[in-house]
Amino acid sequence: MHGFTSLLLLGSCALQSVLGRPDVSRARRDGVLLQRAVTDFIATEEQIALEQLLCNIGAGGCNSQGVASGLVIASPSKSSPDYFYTWTRDSALVFKAIVERFANEYDGSLQTEIVNYIISQAKLQTVSNPSGALSDGQGLGEAKYLVDGSAFTGGWGRPQRDGPALRAITLIGYSKWLIANGYTSTATSLVWPVIRNDLTYVAQYWNQTGFDLWEEVSGSSFFTVASQHRALIEGSALAKSLGSSCSACDAVAPQVLCFLQSFWSPSSGFALANINVNNGRSSKDANVILASIHNFDPALGCDAATFQPCSDRALSSHKVVVDSFRSIYTINAGIGAGSAVAVGRYPEDSYYNGNPWYLNTLAAAEQLYDALYVWQTSGSITVTSTSLAFFRALVPSVAAGTYPSTSATYTTIYNAVFLYADGFVGKVQQYAQTNGSLAEQYDRNTGAALSARDLTWSYASFLTAAARRAGVIPVGWGGGNTAATSVPGTCFATSQGGSYSTVVLTAFPTSQTPQAGQTTTGTFTRPTVTTTLSPTTTGGSGGDCPQATAVAVSFTVTKVTVYGQTVKIVGNTSQLGNWDTSKAIALSASQYTSSNPIWSGSVTLTPGQSVQYKYIVVNTDGSVTWEADPNRAYSIPSGCDSTATKTDRWQ
Ligand SMILES: *[C@@H]1O[C@H](CO)[C@@H](O)[C@H](O)[C@H]1NC(C)=O
Ligand SMILES: *[C@@H]1O[C@H](CO)[C@@H](O)[C@H](O)[C@H]1NC(C)=O
Ligand SMILES: *[C@@H]1O[C@H](CO)[C@@H](O)[C@H](O)[C@H]1NC(C)=O
Repeated sequence: MHGFTSLLLLGSCALQSVLGRPDVSRARRDGVLLQRAVTDFIATEEQIALEQLLCNIGAGGCNSQGVASGLVIASPSKSSPDYFYTWTRDSALVFKAIVERFANEYDGSLQTEIVNYIISQAKLQTVSNPSGALSDGQGLGEAKYLVDGSAFTGGWGRPQRDGPALRAITLIGYSKWLIANGYTSTATSLVWPVIRNDLTYVAQYWNQTGFDLWEEVSGSSFFTVASQHRALIEGSALAKSLGSSCSACDAVAPQVLCFLQSFWSPSSGFALANINVNNGRSSKDANVILASIHNFDPALGCDAATFQPCSDRALSSHKVVVDSFRSIYTINAGIGAGSAVAVGRYPEDSYYNGNPWYLNTLAAAEQLYDALYVWQTSGSITVTSTSLAFFRALVPSVAAGTYPSTSATYTTIYNAVFLYADGFVGKVQQYAQTNGSLAEQYDRNTGAALSARDLTWSYASFLTAAARRAGVIPVGWGGGNTAATSVPGTCFATSQGGSYSTVVLTAFPTSQTPQAGQTTTGTFTRPTVTTTLSPTTTGGSGGDCPQATAVAVSFTVTKVTVYGQTVKIVGNTSQLGNWDTSKAIALSASQYTSSNPIWSGSVTLTPGQSVQYKYIVVNTDGSVTWEADPNRAYSIPSGCDSTATKTDRWQ
């Protein structure tokens, strides 16, 4: 936060305390608690998400017995529903997150996974299937394969034309890392031939209909077309940096962007998810939010033609899509217009009766974290007549205009959007399984996990949303190419045929470690995202209040017990008894009721300290029942507050 802004904030807070507006301060306090809870959740869930994601990758993944090397299963679930297949789209998006993480911080084991993935995809490109074969490219549009890499021959929604575009984007991401670290020849000889097949497919077939990302609608899908545009632009730039070219990319990309504009409905204020289709749906769909986050390029600012996350079109679409779930899910009942809710695919969804999805709820957060990054680095927020409704739901008094980061309105909007974004992560925290597992869906009425367990894409979505919140931003794809954002005056259905080649990859050169000084430079920037609502309410980092020297953490756990049993907490520090159950801290049942069976108690801990702990039940005979693994983890907040709360359910 810049000095001038802080002064303004201090001024407005002082005014508020003079006027004594309890509603405002209560809202602030709730906001601070939410942000802390989200920070805590991310601290534990990030590791779980990465581990569980890797479990779903063959051949070594813990849930991937029988899965070929490099292939990603959608979920370990083999029945009701059976997701034990590999999907081109899901796999590309999962590896897009892995490549991003790897490029930000070198990790040899992730590199091995990436290399195995590339080798597996080269092979998959050659597998003839019901969509066709590689010879004319049609086989690349197949959506899913068996886990041994052979064709799935059952009935399915095919083709799905986003897969090749997304795979190209992911492989281009790794190629950029190779080039930045001096391994251009690996990119040229091993990765580029695989990418080229996918780009050729996009340039040839982009103007034909196919099934959308939910595999239900055959037509033209916003998510697919946006991905195709990015792939062609980024593919052309990669070709150039490899001393080659992609003339089909250059010829077709502007036309794909031209076509993308026709999804925008000015009268409805959102991008239609599907066109060239007549299925009776509203076309309000999280498809659009996903397209926006997956085509985020901070260098494109708030460009509306590419629906950048902070563009007025994308923010307006965000509002329309999120609002479409407010009244239809029981778990969203009573939540006000400016607060986050559980987000599904589209309001008419009837799959498993139509429920919120973790990955869409996380995407709603990620789009806003992306927007915050651009506002912060560009130094202003622009509200247009198109985005006014989005902003007014959060800051009712706001008017259209451009607010420089030195203005109070900027700070008010920035903080409100940050809190709103955190609210979506808070929903995922609330409805995740207690051990951190993320399934595909959660029940619209009860919030319980539903459908496929441990969905790989859910975990990838968690990792990227958490990265954005921490200010870790992906490398851009526009590359300063004006074709990235300039929309032709007239749209043409230009497509280009091309030839496809069988690529045989067996191994990659070893020891391709980062070159000194080249590790991540120029690929990622970490801005100082303002994680505080205001200096007086959150404190800590800004030094605007005395830092607490001890924090009384109130632990609450929901556990049904019988008379004579006591719930205690024990953990890995002296204050928590060093795992010695005889030194565990007893909790109180004073607030226990049959409808709300809670045990709670306070333990004084050190700000900034990380602890592991578990709850135990001590029976009348002194015997102990432990909670199930894993150990819980918690980081004690280091701010001005000398109290904190941690609420858990017995696991
Ligand atoms: C093909 O492109 C033209 C021009 O943009 C557009 O009108 C048409 O709807 C597109 N069709 C498909 C299936 O993409
Ligand atoms: C959480 O529990 C479920 C159901 O028992 C199990 O399938 C899953 O593997 C567990 N996840 C983790 C991260 O331990
Ligand atoms: C307790 O566990 C946390 C989290 O794993 C760790 O950071 C911390 O060092 C541990 N504390 C002690 C005293 O071992």
